[in-house]
Amino acid sequence: SSVNLQEIHDFLVSIAHAAGQTITSARPTTSRTGSKKNAADLVTETDRAVEKMVSERIRERYPDYQFMGEETYKPGDTLTPAPTFIVDPIDGTTNFVHTYPYACISLGFAINLTPVIGVIYNPFTNQLFTGIKDQGSYLTSPLHNREKLPLKPLEPFYDDSGNGGLGNCLIIGEWGSDRSGNDYDVKVKTFRKLCADKKDGGAMVHSIRSLGSAALNICSVAAGWADVYWEGGCWAWDVCAGWVVLKEAGGEIVDANPGRWKAKVDGRRYMAVRGGEGWEAVVKEFWGCVEGELE
Ligand code: IPD
Repeated sequence: SSVNLQEIHDFLVSIAHAAGQTITSARPTTSRTGSKKNAADLVTETDRAVEKMVSERIRERYPDYQFMGEETYKPGDTLTPAPTFIVDPIDGTTNFVHTYPYACISLGFAINLTPVIGVIYNPFTNQLFTGIKDQGSYLTSPLHNREKLPLKPLEPFYDDSGNGGLGNCLIIGEWGSDRSGNDYDVKVKTFRKLCADKKDGGAMVHSIRSLGSAALNICSVAAGWADVYWEGGCWAWDVCAGWVVLKEAGGEIVDANPGRWKAKVDGRRYMAVRGGEGWEAVVKEFWGCVEGELE
């Protein structure tokens, strides 16, 4: 049976708006917030309530498709090639508990392990990012009336004399919730090298942002607001929806570790880069700043 992507997309947009109501009417507090793996890996009643609502509505409408959600995921669960909804009820939970208005619901749909629909909604700013494979991606917000992404022409990364590249980029990189071990060290050293002055061996990028939502970070690259987003440690539900939005905006996703041009949706390591001439060279420059290897 063929899958009607447009119909699923429209259904996910309506779910995103309903979830947005729940998210913005919640009154989370830092003291009532629970944690999962450690004290920095937060979860709230709202995350669970939204996932319950979303999964029930999806299962009722599409009983034949698989469902994977952040709050019901169990170690050992794996993605299969079957059509699968991949859902993060609140991406940016740390922001949500602090009432920092950068959080979203991220609704993705993948077939054959390839993301084909992405719906990402930040209910605090009323920004809706959507994409369907081969049909473009869009931003609808108080400032944008379903504008096609990227929001501006994709500039070449280098000028005619070969200047520019990574040094001209605005980077997004997250600290993640693991604050010890190899990957934490790799991140800290890599951030240092990216930002450091050239006379200290750094790339001296324009700056690094850490805003706390993988899905919205990828959408920022898709829009053209940032050039590169680099992350180790997040999950398929953090990236599936954004993947479609970015690819449809002309961007690419590769592995965060040097030399790996193919990223997997459940591979836990990602580098999202905007489109534009010279993007491969910028990826190589970035990999040259990765100090060590993410596990
Ligand atoms: C987290 C956010 C964060 C990223 C973490 C994710 P959550 O998702 O996307 O930016 O650095 O790896 O786990 O827990 O807020 O859904």
